[in-house]
Amino acid sequence: MIVVTGASGRLGRLVVSQLIARGVAAGDIVATVRNPARAVALSDLDVRIRHAEYTDPDSLRTAFAGADRILLISSDSARNRFNEHRNVVTAAVNADVELFAYTSMLRADQSGIGLAIDHRRTEQAVAAAGLPAVILRNGWYLENYTDNLATDLATGVHLGSAGDGRVAAASRRDYAEAAAVVLSGDGHAGAVYELAGDLGFTMNELATEVTRVSGKPVIYSDLSSSEHVKRLVDAGVPESAAELYADWDAGIARGDLDVVGPQLHRLIGRDTTRLSEAISSVLV
Ligand SMILES: NC(=O)c1ccc[n+]([C@@H]2O[C@H](COP(=O)([O-])OP(=O)(O)OC[C@H]3O[C@@H](n4cnc5c(N)ncnc54)[C@H](OP(=O)(O)O)[C@@H]3O)[C@@H](O)[C@H]2O)c1
Repeated sequence: MIVVTGASGRLGRLVVSQLIARGVAAGDIVATVRNPARAVALSDLDVRIRHAEYTDPDSLRTAFAGADRILLISSDSARNRFNEHRNVVTAAVNADVELFAYTSMLRADQSGIGLAIDHRRTEQAVAAAGLPAVILRNGWYLENYTDNLATDLATGVHLGSAGDGRVAAASRRDYAEAAAVVLSGDGHAGAVYELAGDLGFTMNELATEVTRVSGKPVIYSDLSSSEHVKRLVDAGVPESAAELYADWDAGIARGDLDVVGPQLHRLIGRDTTRLSEAISSVLV
């Protein structure tokens, strides 16, 4: 039995559907959700649904009963992420699983991006627990850019502070497929996969591609980190979130999220989603 946590989220739902596409029986998949109302996102997939809240060890113990393999999809809690992950690791140890997979972050061991700290600590907790584990160090989602396309097109400007840094983003679907390959296959225990798009792009290249695909001119305006934060706050973004976005762009400027090699391509057996495809898919 394969358990996918955070299955009501965008990545989790794709992992579940990719497992089914790879021939795993729906009855052998447990999708965990923290909020039963959000299970509706999975209702057409016919999988088993269980309740699991990362802050609630009892719910995790019950949800993991009978699990052979577990995928921990990282929490979106900025304040409590590591403690939540540690609860999941403890429950996985108690379930005596044969494989534990974790969606970490690209170059989590050396990235200077603040978010990497929780991922690094989680990887260390997984190793210390002695779990047979595979670490999926996911790079940035292409959707981080395409979700904001409407604003870029309306203003004609993509704002950022990433300089000439490159980001090797791939689609959620690419990362989900890689997770499904690992969860349904053999020989992955002990691996740490650095997963990113085949090709990186700068923010200038992003703006050029948006212009080319949409036919509407968009330029990239490169700001200092402090000016980036200020402009986001002026636009209504909470200051803590604005600081996170600027921190991510500083990481891109340093190369923390650039191409790492073909591991994602190899796992999914095809090219990763191209920027132009991702842009087209939201414009049509
Ligand atoms: N690589 C990137 O560019 C990138 C971008 C954004 C996020 N991420 C990370 O990747 C993860 C998955 O991405 P996504 O796009 O699927 O995000 P998402 O759509 O926000 O889904 C997150 C999932 O985690 C669940 N979750 C969060 N906290 C939980 C908790 N305390 N207990 C149980 N479940 C919890 C959510 O439950 P609900 O449905 O109840 O909310 C949801 O199912 C995110 O959580 C975040 O850590 C990566």
